Amino acid sequence: MDLIIKNGTVVTASDTVKADVGIRDGKIVAVGVDLAAEGAKVVDASGKLVLPGAIDAHTHLAMPFGGTTSADSYLAGTRAAACGGVTTVFDYPMQRKGMSIQQVIDSKKAICEQEACVDYAYHCIITDLNEGAILEEMAAAVESGISSFKCFFVYKKEGMMVDDGTFVQLMLKAKEVGAMINLHAENPDLIDYNIERFLAEGKTSAWYHYLSRPEYVEAEADKRAVHWAKHFQAPLYLVHMADEEGLEAAIEAKKDNSDIFIETCPQYLEFTCDVYKREDGRNFVCSPPMKAQQSQDALWKAIKNGGIDVVATDHCPFQSNEKDWGKDDFTKIPNGCAGVENLYPYMLSAANQGKISFNKAIELCSTNPAKIFGCANKGSIAVGKDADIVIYDPEIDFTISVDNMHSDYDHTIWEGIQLKGYPIQTYSRGRLVYDHGDFVGEAGWGKFIKREKANRG
Ligand code: URP
Ligand code: ZN
Ligand code: ZN
Ligand code: ZN
Repeated sequence: MDLIIKNGTVVTASDTVKADVGIRDGKIVAVGVDLAAEGAKVVDASGKLVLPGAIDAHTHLAMPFGGTTSADSYLAGTRAAACGGVTTVFDYPMQRKGMSIQQVIDSKKAICEQEACVDYAYHCIITDLNEGAILEEMAAAVESGISSFKCFFVYKKEGMMVDDGTFVQLMLKAKEVGAMINLHAENPDLIDYNIERFLAEGKTSAWYHYLSRPEYVEAEADKRAVHWAKHFQAPLYLVHMADEEGLEAAIEAKKDNSDIFIETCPQYLEFTCDVYKREDGRNFVCSPPMKAQQSQDALWKAIKNGGIDVVATDHCPFQSNEKDWGKDDFTKIPNGCAGVENLYPYMLSAANQGKISFNKAIELCSTNPAKIFGCANKGSIAVGKDADIVIYDPEIDFTISVDNMHSDYDHTIWEGIQLKGYPIQTYSRGRLVYDHGDFVGEAGWGKFIKREKANRG
């Protein structure tokens, strides 16, 4: 063995045991009591938790959007990921009219090979079928390790929206080729109608971002998609769910054996729509917006009772000056917020304070995304898995600030949030990439994860 993490408490989605973890060539080769060191480097994890690295199944790195590009490059975003205990990021490269899936993925891979500090995978956004060519290409994409695709029901003026017919074609093809469709569900026509009305009435503050896409706007679209997933018995992954009514419909459908998976994000668990009344409300503008307390309560309830499968971030930060474009018109605010470095510490802090178990936090942030999206070597601490490991100190008090984050953005919605416990080390395939507050990894270390057809747990 090259490395042994000794005397820690190993926590997985199913177990909590005192054990040592032995690592060789980037893989976990032993988990057991009193492993012999035999010349391996020994890390003492007494009093610490030894956890699988998190998988952030939802990030937008260097994505052209909202009249600019999201603030974190692949380097900055994956550096921040490493420092937050995230050892795999899923990015959302975007296909545009005339482009093939292969072209999109190849161009992103060329960048990630140079820049990625942790492992990465792709869900490819489809915005146009290219007269059917995209449907023909999906089987090959699955063979190449891209087994999920994304559709937006919104962002019409950005040219990203697909109509219902396109969505259903993609959903059926995905079912046929062993892939899954991820969906951003909100109703675009209702949003446009509300925006037009508010602007005409001079209602332009960030609060009207929320009021133009409140609970019912998300719920209608959730229910529409859930209906099709049930009707066609096709897999569906609902990204960043934030509303109670849609959530309940999706959970109900899961009970009927539908292949439906539900993701929510830490920002919906922490903040309510009240943030849009703040002076800096524009910094919280993302879509879907944070909702009322009742929806947040429903999300936590579903986290606890197994209704929600994944917590991921939708990491898509913009700089303050870009958020300022919408000071006097909420429609000009680029949509998206930071999160990749906060996901695991936030959920683990919730566990540390007794809101959920550590096992549950790991299930939501690591084990489930690995299973749902076909990452066989990720998601747990077990012999044969990649040595993606976080050492977590439950005693640390940590206050989030832009100054102790490792991204390129200049502000964070998480400023001032206090956490109980924090990661002290992150290992990516056995290599130390984060150590007591510092990034110690390297650009280009991260590898593309060629995923299996999703076995979906
Ligand atoms: O506001 C958001 N969420 N921006 C990123 C794009 C998306 O909708 O996921
Ligand atoms: Zn979205
Ligand atoms: Zn039907
Ligand atoms: Zn997103």
